[in-house]
Amino acid sequence: MRFDHVGIAVRNLDDAVRTYATIFAAQVVHREDLPQESVRLAFVDTGGVLLELLAPVGETGALARFLGSHGEGLHHLAFAVDDVTNALREAVAAGQRAVDDAPRRGSRGRLVAFLHPESAHGVLIELVQSA
Ligand code: CO
Repeated sequence: MRFDHVGIAVRNLDDAVRTYATIFAAQVVHREDLPQESVRLAFVDTGGVLLELLAPVGETGALARFLGSHGEGLHHLAFAVDDVTNALREAVAAGQRAVDDAPRRGSRGRLVAFLHPESAHGVLIELVQSA
């Protein structure tokens, strides 16, 4: 398991990209709309660390609800695994609470599965299958 990226919930994607580009000389490496998640996102590289900036589309998706209750900030930590199905099964077998019963298609076309924040001291964890 390797660290992959930090997910950050933001209200406005273009504002966030501009901020991180200005402060950390972040380079945009990927942009994507995920209509099934009601999310627009951008991956920015800050000196080798990837940040996934996530902005809501509309007011009804899970990210919009997250912003409504938590405001902007840390949304998740993502770890890359070779086999997300297996990693999810092992996490559940080890007593962790999964958000997803089975992997689903996330950003960058990768299979992903999320573990509930209560399983990781308050932080939502994304397991993402390696490219
Ligand atoms: Co992510």
